[in-house]
Amino acid sequence: MPLKFVRNDITKMECDAIVNAANNSLLGGGGVDGAIHAAAGPELLEECRTLGGCDTGKAKITKGYRLPAKYVIHTVGPVWRDGRHGEPELLHSCYRESLALAKEYGCESVAFPLISAGVYGYPKDQALKVAVDEISDFLLKNDMTAYIVIYGRAEFNIGKKLISDIEEYIDECYIKEHPDQRVQQSYAAGIAASAPLPPKQEKKKRGIFGRKAKDRAEAAYSQMPEEEMFYELSIPENAPAAGGSLDDALKNIDESFSQMLLRKIDEKGMTDAECYKKANIDRKLFSKIRSDVNYRPSKPTAIAFAIALELPMRELQDMLMKAGYALSHSSKFDIIIEYFVKNGRYDIFEINEALFAFDQVLL
Ligand code: APR
Repeated sequence: MPLKFVRNDITKMECDAIVNAANNSLLGGGGVDGAIHAAAGPELLEECRTLGGCDTGKAKITKGYRLPAKYVIHTVGPVWRDGRHGEPELLHSCYRESLALAKEYGCESVAFPLISAGVYGYPKDQALKVAVDEISDFLLKNDMTAYIVIYGRAEFNIGKKLISDIEEYIDECYIKEHPDQRVQQSYAAGIAASAPLPPKQEKKKRGIFGRKAKDRAEAAYSQMPEEEMFYELSIPENAPAAGGSLDDALKNIDESFSQMLLRKIDEKGMTDAECYKKANIDRKLFSKIRSDVNYRPSKPTAIAFAIALELPMRELQDMLMKAGYALSHSSKFDIIIEYFVKNGRYDIFEINEALFAFDQVLL
C-alpha cells in the first residue's frame, strides 16, 4: 500500500523524511513544528537559521538529527480564511513541493502531518482531501511509500453523514456471532445432504457438482436460516459433472485470481500500473501476482483490486472466491466494503478513511 494512514506521533516515524508544518520563519513554533524541533534537538534550529525562511506553499529540507527520520522537510501551509484566498492551491503546493524534495533526495518513504489543519485552521476533512489527492497523484507516477500521520481521532472525521450511513448499514447487516462457516459453505455449495431440493428438481437429482449444483445451492440457500445467510457462492456454470474423474475436475478448474485480474484489467482498458496504483498496491506485489498464475493474495489485497477495477458486487465476490475468500456479514470490514460497492463508491482512499474511522484494517 503506497499510501498508508497511521495514528502516531510524527516524531516517532522511522521514515526517510518527515514533513514539518512550519511557519515562514522556519524558527520553530508550537504544534507539530514544536514537537519536531524538540525531538530533533538544537542542531535542527541551527540549520534552519541558515535557510532564510520559507514562503507559504514552498518547502525546504534539513537533516533529521536526533529524529529517527534522516530528513525533515519544512513546508509552510496557508492560514485558513474562507477558502477563497488561494488556500487550497497553496496547500496542494505544500504537498507537491515536499514530495518533489523527498524524491530529489532519494527518499523511499515520507510521513506527513495534516498541514494547516491545526493552528492555521484549515478544516480537517478538506485538509485531508487535499493531502490524499496530491499524494495519490504523485504515487501514480512514483515509487515511494507515503504516510499520513493522524495525531488525534478528530482529524479523521470523514463526515458525520457518511459515518451514520455506514453505522446504519452495519446495524442492518452485522451478524453478531460468527456462524459456523462450514454450515454456510455446505449450504451454499448444496453439499448439505439434508438440504432438500425443491420438488421440481427431485426427479433430476444431480450430484453435488452436477450442472444443477447452482439450483441445489439456491434451493439449500433459500432454506438457510435468515441469521445464517451468507453470500451465495456462485458455482461456476462449467462446474465439473458429478462423478467425473479427478482429471476432468482438474481440467475444469476455473480461471485463477491472477488470470481474472489480468483479464479484467484488459477488459477495462487499464494499464497494469493504473490498476495497482488505483488499488494502492505496490508494484512489487503486483509483479508477484502477475507472474504466478496461482498466487493467493490476502483478502484486503483481493478486495483492493476489485475496487480499483470498480467491479459490481457479483464480480467482486467472484474475484474474491478465486482467491479463496467470501464477503461475510459477520465482518464489519466486509460490510463496509459492501456498503461502498453497493453505493458505487470506488475511491479507495475514501473507503480507507471509513475503515480507519471504524478501527478496521485498511486496504
Ligand atoms: N505528530 C503528528 N501530527 C501532529 C503532531 C505530532 N506530534 N502534533 C500536532 N500534529 C497535527 C495537528 O493535530 C494538526 O492536525 O499536525 C497538524 C498540523 O497542526 P499544527 O502543528 O498546528 O500546524 P499548522 O496548522 O500547519 O499551523 C502551523 O503552527 O506550530 C505552529 O510554527 C507552526 O506557526 C506554525 C503553525
